[in-house]
Amino acid sequence: MNIQWYPGHMTKARRAMQEDIKLIDLIIELVDARVPLSSRNPDIDQLGKGKARLILLNKSDMADDRRSEAWMAWFQAQGFHVVKVNSRTGAGLKQINAAVQEACREKIERDRRRGILNRPVRAMVVGIPNVGKSTFINSFAGKACAKTGNKPGVTKGNQWIRLSKTLELLDTPGILWPRFEDQQVGLRLAFIGSINDEILQKEELAAELICFLTESYPEALGGRYGEEVKAAAGGSEEDSSHSGDLKRAYQVLEEIARARGCLTKGSGLDTAKAAAILLDDFRSGRLGRITLELPPDGGEEKCLEN
Ligand code: G4P
Repeated sequence: MNIQWYPGHMTKARRAMQEDIKLIDLIIELVDARVPLSSRNPDIDQLGKGKARLILLNKSDMADDRRSEAWMAWFQAQGFHVVKVNSRTGAGLKQINAAVQEACREKIERDRRRGILNRPVRAMVVGIPNVGKSTFINSFAGKACAKTGNKPGVTKGNQWIRLSKTLELLDTPGILWPRFEDQQVGLRLAFIGSINDEILQKEELAAELICFLTESYPEALGGRYGEEVKAAAGGSEEDSSHSGDLKRAYQVLEEIARARGCLTKGSGLDTAKAAAILLDDFRSGRLGRITLELPPDGGEEKCLEN
């Protein structure tokens, strides 16, 4: 994936989505359960005004279940209907039909009052790149009907995939752009591998990830790379600022290089290789199920109480 977002592109994508949204009753918005907020573009709230809304916490197989529960409660409190899914295996997809009926209850009742019976709900899938839109459409629709590699703003004839008597899906997902202007968002999307725009060097990215893991998932690094790494991650650094944390993170990275035998030709430690190993382990779930952010407004406390 190589996304280069620039205003012209975004304006086009936005306009195309505005047109598509006129045709539908329900927006099915996919977010990545590991970064439920960073993987959204809140512009969709403006674009989708007046439409029923369903959020799917996708890739929930890779996220921390307790945190996913906290996120579900948070989204519900904001008025969204929410289902936790794994589009790769299909887990959770069965709950979607009921959620769609619930989300569109007003429309269905309005139709009924007007004597319109059995008019299917028309829905559209939206989300930022790599969140799993094509995978979801393919698994939900049963057959490979989603076109992959679609580009935003490309003129297209709309096709409807008839999923049941009660639901039709626009075959092409709407692509939202991530909020690149926020550094933390960029960092989190880079951690999960959703942007390969080199916003940071791999080692810097790995060091930032180590800082996060040491703080929020202290068992993860030791569990994967052993005692020496655990000790380095648990070591105290006099400087408690972020740069102090980063300094310790580089020491942890060196320990990971030692533990994994990453050596340069001159027998020095190859921390670039160690960084690549760490990021790959994280992205493929080998460090465990990890969620990188918590809901705003006390989500953390609620999460810890559980
Ligand atoms: P997009 O249309 O929104 O851009 O995303 P796409 O479906 O192409 O999915 C991006 C990647 O995320 C794919 O992996 C896909 O398999 C994976 N994915 C989608 N949903 C889930 C999920 O619920 N759980 C997990 N674990 N992965 C999911 P890939 O490595 O890029 O491709 P591939 O190896 O599957 O071919």
